Parts: sequence; structure tokens; C-alpha cells
Amino acid sequence: MKVSVVQLALTLFALPASVFAAFGITNSGGTVTVDSGAGLVIKINSSTGDINSIVYNSKQLQDSSKFTHIGSGLGSVTTTTSVSGNYARVTLTTSTLIQTYVVVNGQNTLYIGTYITAEPSVGELRFIARLSRSALPNGVTASDIKGGSAIEGSDVYNVNGQTRSKFYSSKRFIGDQVHGVTGSGVGVYMVIPGTGYETSSGGPFMRDINNQGSDQQELYWYMNSNHEQTESYRTGFFGPYAMVFTSGSAPSASLDTSFFSSLSIKGYVAASGRGKVTGSISNVQSGYPVVVGFKNSAAQYWTTASGSSYTSPAMKPGTYTVTLFKGELEVGTGSASVSAGGTTTVNLSSNESIPNAIWSIGNSDGTPSGFLNADKIETMHPSDSRMSSWGPVTYTIGSSSASQWPMAQFISVNNGNKIIWTATSSQIGARKIRIRITSSFAGGRPYITVNSWTSSTPAAPTKIDSRGVTRGTWRGNNQAFEYSIPSGTLIAGKNTITIYVASGSSGDTFLSPNIIFDSIVLY
Ligand SMILES: *[C@@H]1O[C@H](CO)[C@@H](O)[C@H](O)[C@H]1NC(C)=O
Ligand SMILES: *[C@@H]1O[C@H](CO)[C@@H](O)[C@H](O)[C@H]1NC(C)=O
Ligand SMILES: *[C@@H]1O[C@H](CO)[C@@H](O)[C@H](O)[C@H]1NC(C)=O
Repeated sequence: MKVSVVQLALTLFALPASVFAAFGITNSGGTVTVDSGAGLVIKINSSTGDINSIVYNSKQLQDSSKFTHIGSGLGSVTTTTSVSGNYARVTLTTSTLIQTYVVVNGQNTLYIGTYITAEPSVGELRFIARLSRSALPNGVTASDIKGGSAIEGSDVYNVNGQTRSKFYSSKRFIGDQVHGVTGSGVGVYMVIPGTGYETSSGGPFMRDINNQGSDQQELYWYMNSNHEQTESYRTGFFGPYAMVFTSGSAPSASLDTSFFSSLSIKGYVAASGRGKVTGSISNVQSGYPVVVGFKNSAAQYWTTASGSSYTSPAMKPGTYTVTLFKGELEVGTGSASVSAGGTTTVNLSSNESIPNAIWSIGNSDGTPSGFLNADKIETMHPSDSRMSSWGPVTYTIGSSSASQWPMAQFISVNNGNKIIWTATSSQIGARKIRIRITSSFAGGRPYITVNSWTSSTPAAPTKIDSRGVTRGTWRGNNQAFEYSIPSGTLIAGKNTITIYVASGSSGDTFLSPNIIFDSIVLY
């Protein structure tokens, strides 16, 4: 009896699913195929560097028309491959970038390192996986734009009456180690473990795009961009980071990437080449989260204080500016020299001058938290019908609550928010008002009137590149404005204080010059 080739093939295909192909790399016909030996097979076009197939447990997760890569693709790369022990490595090289992919025998994870000597000409550095929407239908609802029409720029959409944008998937870097998308029996997650943000820009409270649902399911890790960027870009090694494949649930953030030290990866600094900073923290007003940040032109780090002390992550050697944050507000500073294997002590103390307030609206913490619409702004455009009316409002000291004061004031929407204050005779005389803002758009800055007196107009704040609050962030440069109200202005009885935004520029509705309030204090 003859066994046909077809029968033989069927017999082979009927092998149990737990038998995987061998770990390793094959390189043929312009395609590099990396197999984890555990159910993940990734194919890379060796002339473009695009990942054009990701099969996980027999399911194709890669979109077939748009691929997975750095930037919008590298165009043309030199591709080299190697397998050494349990590490299969693919290296893509251009004149200013080296992209390293590593798959470890038996792990369904793509480990990634990105090394640059110059910022890409598109002006931002991001890894984007354009995945199959049908295999991975579940992303961040607020950033699912499929079927929508653009209402601002080409990145904020209206979908069935709700505003949506890829920006509304952003999270603060300090809390964003794992984000992903899922489908039936499958999850794909970007993981940025440990000091993965060390070469990014913007500090601990910078936030950037994680996801967009369109014809593809787009999963991002933004290393840097001008999305309300307050710092210069850094160059060098970014990561290690990873794309982790699971049966659905999110992986741990504590992914071990220490094996990078055995792979001679350009720019990667192993634990043995790093040092730490530790110290005490004093005088920070209680009741706020306390964060310590470190930065220089090559790297940035942060850590959350534990009680009245802190210990930094393992940092690259160098001299750093140390910043003490109360919430997101800078309240102290120091300088630290870090050497490999060393621990430096830098004690930090808050320098915040806390006025003896007669009244205040909101808390000084570098955020608009507690104000009207602050709970919605991260996931909606200010024009969204789910937002409360922006006013202008009339706020009465003593009876209104912070949640009635708008988090933002736009010159063409709600200029002239008013505060009514009934003062006693002992509360009047020469007083000061301090307005803190967290960001400003198009040169916006506040000036005030108190009864018939008008303050001078402060100088324009430092311009920050690109839109802010309409893309779901308040994080810019914290700034305080103080106004000295002359004696004889305030009266015993009803006073009216009005806040205006000044700017030499103009713009329509929510793109008009604006400010984001942190707090308002009279003392
Ligand atoms: C690699 O990409 C180039 C450019 O899109 C394409 O012309 C080529 O056919 C691709 N190679 C393979 C093996 O798919
Ligand atoms: C306190 O320190 C912060 C952070 O360095 C700084 O921005 C601020 O200007 C300092 N304030 C005072 C009053 O010295
Ligand atoms: C830092 O603070 C700790 C604890 O208060 C103290 O023991 C230490 O002497 C201080 N070090 C410096 C350099 O000021």
C-alpha cells in the first residue's frame, strides 16, 4: 500500500499543537524569520526592516497592509542576524540608527533596543506595531477613531458624537510600564521596564500616545515627540523595551532584560556601570505624592519617595540636576554626581513658599485636579458633549467648590471667569493674588481686575511646541503669577475679581490662547 504525499503531510500537520518548530533564525528570499520555539514566529523584510508577519499560537497578529517598525519605517536598512546560545538577534542599521531585536529561546517576547545618533527627520522617535484589528479588536476606547471624522488637526476625531484621539490613550511616563491591546485568547503588550525611559524626554509627568484603533490596531511606544515637550531630545540607547505576547492578561512590568549586557549592544549600560542617589526629604506639605526626578543632557530618571527618603534607580554616571516634586509641582532642587558602583547622598528640602491664605481655589500641586472638567480632559476634547459647560463662571468664595472652577480658560470660549468675595474690614488693604498655571498655549497668560483696578499683563511664557490641552494633557511649564493689589482697592463687602487671558495671538475656540489652572490664592 502506497502512502501519498498528501497523507504524509496531513499526518505531520496533525501533530499536537504543543510541538513547536525549533528556536532560531532562517534567512531566505529577503525575509528573516525568527522563531521563539514556543509559539511566536516573526518575519522581517531584510531590505526595509519592516516586521510584516507576527504569528502567535497559529494566529496572524500583524496587519497585512501596514507594518510594524520604528518611525514610519526605516526605508532601507542593513540587516544582520545571529544566534548565540539562547539568543536570536536581528540588527537593522541605518546611518543614524541601530535597531536591535532579540528573541530568547522559549519566550514569546520581542526584546527591543533602539540606538540613535540623531533625532529622526520626522521629529519624533516611536516604535509602532500596526497589528491586525480583527485579531486584536480591543484597544483604548478613547483612542478608537474608526469610522470617525477629523475635528482638529488630523488627529482628533468625532465618532458617533464622542471625541476620540490617539492622544487620549496617553499615560504619565511614571506610571506607564505596560500597555497593550487584546483579542480572543491573545494580548500584545509594550513593556518598558526599569530605566527604559532614561533617554526619553519630558520628565516623569510627560505623557504620550500608546494606541490608536483605526483599520489597524496600532500599539505604540513613544520614546520622544513634540507633544507638549518641555525638554530637548536626547540621543543614545533607548530601552531595552519589549513587545510581549500573552494569552490575554497583562505581563509584569519587571521584565528581566539584563541579558542585554552579554550581547555587546551599542550604548547599553549594564547595572555594573551604574550608580545611585539616595537621601532624605523634608518640608514637603503633607498629603501629596512626592517624586524625585534627575536629569542631564544624556539621561533622565525618577523615583517615588518612600516616607521621608528616596532612592534613585540605577543611573548612568554623570552630574544630574535633582528636582523634588510635590504632586507635579517643582518644590526643591539639588545636584548629584553619579559614579559607577557608587551611591551619592543628596538631601532634599522643599523651598515652597506657602502663603497664609485668606482663601484659595484648588491646591498647588502642578495639576488642575479637582477643577471643572479636569476629570475628563485626559480622554476627551474640550468640545465633547460629555464635558460640563466651560462658563465663564461666577465663583463665590465660601459657597462654591473647586469643581465649579474651570480647569482651563480659553480666550475665545470662557475668558473672564469671575470670583465674588465678600471681605470683612480686617481682610482688606494691600493683598496679593497668586495664580499658578501648569501650561499655556499660544502665549496665553493671566491678568486680573479687582473691582475697578486692572493689573499689568505679565510677559509671555516660554513657548512650548504643539497643542496641549486639546490633546488631553495639562503638563507644560508650571508657572506662578503674582499680582499686588494696591491698598484701597478691596472693600469691606462684595469684591469682584475677574481673570482674563492675554496673548498677542489668536485662534478659534479651543485652539485660542489658553491657560490651565493649578490654583488661585489670595493672601
Ligand atoms: C521588502 O519590501 C520591499 C519594499 O516594500 C518590497 O519591494 C520587497 O518585495 C519586500 N521583500 C519581501 C521578501 O517581501
Ligand atoms: C524651588 O525649587 C524649584 C525646583 O528647582 C524651582 O523651580 C523654584 O524656582 C524654587 N523656588 C524658590 C522660591 O526658590
Ligand atoms: C542627610 O540626611 C540624613 C538624615 O537626616 C543625615 O543623616 C545626613 O547626615 C544628611 N547628609 C547630608 C550630606 O546632608
